[in-house]
Amino acid sequence: MVHALGGIVATGLVALLAHPQAVMAKGSTGKPIVADGTSFALNGNSVSYRFHIDNTTGDLLGDHFGGSVGADIPLESVHGTAGWVGASGRVRREFPDQGRGDFRLPAIRIRQSEGYTVSEFQYKSHDIIAGKPALAGLPATMGSEDDVSTLVVHLYDKYSDVAADLSYSIFPEHDAIVRSVNVTNNGKANITIESLASLSVDLPLGDMDMISLRGDWAREAHRERRKVEYGIQGFGSATGYSSALHNPFLALVDSTTTESHGEAWGFSLVYTGSFSVDVEKGSQGFTRALLGFNPSQLSWTLPPGETLTSPECVSVYSQDGIGGMSRALHRLYRNHLTKSKFAKSDRPPLLNSWEGLGFNLNESNIYNLAKESAEIGAKLFVLDDGWFGKEYPRTSDTEGLGDWVPNPDRFPDGLEPFVKKITDLKVANSSEKLRFGIWVEPEMVNPKSTLYDEHPDWALHAGSYPRTEVRNQLVLNLALPEVQDYIIKAVSDILESADITYVKWDNNRGMHEVTSPATHHAYMLGMYRVFDTLTSKFPDVLWEGCASGGGRFDPGVLQYFPQIWTSDDTDAVQRISIQMGTSLAYPASAMGAHLSAVPNQQTGRTVPVSFRGHVAMMGGGFGLELDPAEMPEDDKAALPGLIALAEKVSPLVLNGDMWRLNLPEESNWPAVLFISEDGQQAALFVYHVVPNINFAYPRIRLQGLDAQASYKVDGDAVYTGATLMNLGLQFPLEGEFASQVVMLEKQ
Ligand SMILES: *[C@@H]1O[C@H](CO)[C@@H](O)[C@H](O)[C@H]1NC(C)=O
Ligand SMILES: *[C@@H]1O[C@H](CO)[C@@H](O)[C@H](O)[C@H]1NC(C)=O
Ligand SMILES: *[C@@H]1O[C@H](CO)[C@@H](O)[C@H](O)[C@H]1NC(C)=O
Ligand SMILES: *[C@@H]1O[C@H](CO)[C@@H](O)[C@H](O)[C@H]1NC(C)=O
Ligand SMILES: *[C@@H]1O[C@H](CO)[C@@H](O)[C@H](O)[C@H]1NC(C)=O
Repeated sequence: MVHALGGIVATGLVALLAHPQAVMAKGSTGKPIVADGTSFALNGNSVSYRFHIDNTTGDLLGDHFGGSVGADIPLESVHGTAGWVGASGRVRREFPDQGRGDFRLPAIRIRQSEGYTVSEFQYKSHDIIAGKPALAGLPATMGSEDDVSTLVVHLYDKYSDVAADLSYSIFPEHDAIVRSVNVTNNGKANITIESLASLSVDLPLGDMDMISLRGDWAREAHRERRKVEYGIQGFGSATGYSSALHNPFLALVDSTTTESHGEAWGFSLVYTGSFSVDVEKGSQGFTRALLGFNPSQLSWTLPPGETLTSPECVSVYSQDGIGGMSRALHRLYRNHLTKSKFAKSDRPPLLNSWEGLGFNLNESNIYNLAKESAEIGAKLFVLDDGWFGKEYPRTSDTEGLGDWVPNPDRFPDGLEPFVKKITDLKVANSSEKLRFGIWVEPEMVNPKSTLYDEHPDWALHAGSYPRTEVRNQLVLNLALPEVQDYIIKAVSDILESADITYVKWDNNRGMHEVTSPATHHAYMLGMYRVFDTLTSKFPDVLWEGCASGGGRFDPGVLQYFPQIWTSDDTDAVQRISIQMGTSLAYPASAMGAHLSAVPNQQTGRTVPVSFRGHVAMMGGGFGLELDPAEMPEDDKAALPGLIALAEKVSPLVLNGDMWRLNLPEESNWPAVLFISEDGQQAALFVYHVVPNINFAYPRIRLQGLDAQASYKVDGDAVYTGATLMNLGLQFPLEGEFASQVVMLEKQ
């Protein structure tokens, strides 16, 4: 084995070595966690995460996060302290604290009771736990003792009596390491947590790119790749929610990494609130990544004896490019995140009333739309906004939010008998009856509502500053237990009043005039309590998250809701980009995607019904958003076939591995392949966007197949996996917006 200290770099400037003691960390491979009291190893199928205790300082120093390494590894040899950067600023640190010579961004900043922000966390002890404990009040990945093991490292700052526990869980099958931190004040006076990153990692590579997902309302999840430069670069959300502006996801990749080749690290924060992602390339050339709370919205007072727990951050590693990184995250999230029984099956094709009826609702037009839904083979009818409000009827977006009682003019006998009429409808060519779902936006209130009349103090506000309305509404303060209880009761009452088996939970604005910075996280804890209580109480309900489209597309929501409306932009061409972008971090099973009417409400574009259907069925939550009666006959006639195809591919979309073959930003022929986990079936989606006159048809080369095996293509020709991957298939698609779905069966 190699001795890293061999050449003790002898320049006159070297004052002392950071680790005169240890030249090698010992470990053993095979077990998911190996800890010998001075060094720690987390071993996945093809990832190693290693760190050790610096026994002169008690600091935790990172050794490796990447492809598998052997049990014994050479430790890093460090220049002595010459210049201004202290010893702690020259090393790779697991939990960088502040104020003692590491001038990079810290993972924690504590304002001590005396006012200074210096901390010194030192190793105290550690525990290894089979499985993974739940995270107090927060969503978290889960697994049995066979799936996951946890290492907890206890750190202590003896100068201020503050404890920090770092929890590392490893899912060896998924090459995923999940970290969270909790901080406990053991002192006698209040302290303030000014910043806290869930994950902080220093990677030794100097030439890296970072990839993030940026956007805005109706143009979510655009992939952004840029070079990591010296200094700090980052993004985040200060909207109060994870937001469509930036997703709480980061990839770091080698500058040469592509979609299918090269090293990629993916980081995904399991949190729905404001967040911060920072990447800092320091003077020594290391790249530090920090993901966690947004420091501008924390300032968390921690009284003696109390604990603040950070959200958790998932990290995965792949040598198979950005696609490999995505598939690792997808598998982890498909199998270890969502609690709902609908996570992996039974997503009925739905028809939502919004784009068909809007606010213009009455029992007869809703019933007629539901009847048409059943006739074309939809299995779930969803009544969107506009059904509620008594004193302030919700007939437009100006009033009624907060008053979760059926509008008595629209439903004189309440919801129950009306819903019964709908759930008695037989789905065409099926033994099933139509299911009924409903829309709610419980975290919001219109000032024109009975709720606001009675509880104006329940809306977020800051002193006497005016309460800024967005879409005529204010945000309820879910940090207040009475607000949480009100929402739990209001939504429970609706669900108990009729046979409702689906809920679309919307949330249509960000937070302004927040009572205090800490209210942001207190709100999240309250919101998760509400989500947890309701989804546990109504396990047979299929819940779909929504926030002006993809304004809260994050793993925190996915713990409770198996699907999220991906974007209010339903233009099928733009949806290819949005859904492929979203798939960087999230599995297709999580995406709500609908075939909507043309010309498209957002873009005015007209795209053929088959293309619209094919794009929508690449999402686990397939549906329609239109009034079939308003459609041209031919389009309407195509709907039963498209719904049937969506049901056929659904198991592959929900459970399969996704291969992004051609990206829409790079190719006029975007293509996606879903392969079942057992490799027996696959569904290939191919699109042709802009007409290409007098031009050869490209070969779409498949990936991820078994090269030796044979596959029957659409029940016809049989080719080997090698042929399909190395030569590929041609699709003679003509004109603009042409598409095809092809099924493959392994022979
Ligand atoms: C530090 O590590 C060295 C080498 O492993 C060992 O000899 C020494 O006893 C350690 N010191 C302490 C204080 O544990
Ligand atoms: C802090 O985290 C550790 C590790 O998960 C856990 O054992 C401990 O109970 C946590 N403390 C609190 C107060 O939640
Ligand atoms: C400590 O914090 C608690 C909770 O925020 C607060 O009620 C209390 O007044 C604070 N104590 C001091 C001495 O500031
Ligand atoms: C229901 O609304 C439709 C417009 O969507 C209208 O034509 C119809 O007359 C209304 N029916 C009743 C009973 O109000
Ligand atoms: C039901 O079956 C008939 C006959 O095969 C077919 O024409 C019709 O399109 C089917 N409808 C649905 C909704 O599948």
